[in-house]
Amino acid sequence: MIVRKATPADAPALVEAFFAMMEEAGFGPPVQGSGPARLLASITAGTGDGSQGWFVCEDGGQIVATAGAILQLTPLDDVLVGKRAIIVGVYTRPDYRKRGAARMVVAAAVEWCRGAGVALVRLQTTQAGRPLYESLGFTVGDIMTLRL
Ligand SMILES: CC(C)(COP(=O)(O)OP(=O)(O)OC[C@H]1O[C@@H](n2cnc3c(N)ncnc32)[C@H](O)[C@@H]1OP(=O)(O)O)[C@@H](O)C(=O)NCCC(=O)NCCS
Repeated sequence: MIVRKATPADAPALVEAFFAMMEEAGFGPPVQGSGPARLLASITAGTGDGSQGWFVCEDGGQIVATAGAILQLTPLDDVLVGKRAIIVGVYTRPDYRKRGAARMVVAAAVEWCRGAGVALVRLQTTQAGRPLYESLGFTVGDIMTLRL
């Protein structure tokens, strides 16, 4: 297995993995309408202009795991903690789980964030993902959320 940085050409595979993750993780409402097309446009643009850093783990030329980092820039971030980013789309094909694939792509996304000058990385986890993130240094802090 090898990890490489995704390019805009990988965007369709990243969207597919993203929605597989959403379904399995039970995040958010069901996908409807133009969601996939808009995500495809966003990832294509973001991997091209450097505002998103996506990584894929490949085996024999097939993508088996994905993770992406998205820079989140607001004026407040400059005042408080510098740049922020979220990690999204962490997904490993079921037949490749428990081999360290997610760890490699998430670690690569975190390093990409570090290189981009990010000071705080956030993500939403599942039970399955939590030990992995904790082992990479993520902690549960005092960020609260309200679903509307
Ligand atoms: C959560 C998910 C991404 C983990 O992917 P993965 O590729 O299996 O993750 P890793 O292999 O890097 O790590 C998973 C576990 O396997 C263990 N592992 C890694 N390499 C291993 C190996 N060679 N042999 C045995 N176990 C191994 C890790 O230590 C880790 O154990 P832990 O969970 O007790 O800490 C995957 O289960 C998934 O896609 N789930 C559905 C979507 C989801 O929940 N995504 C996360 C949203 S935040």
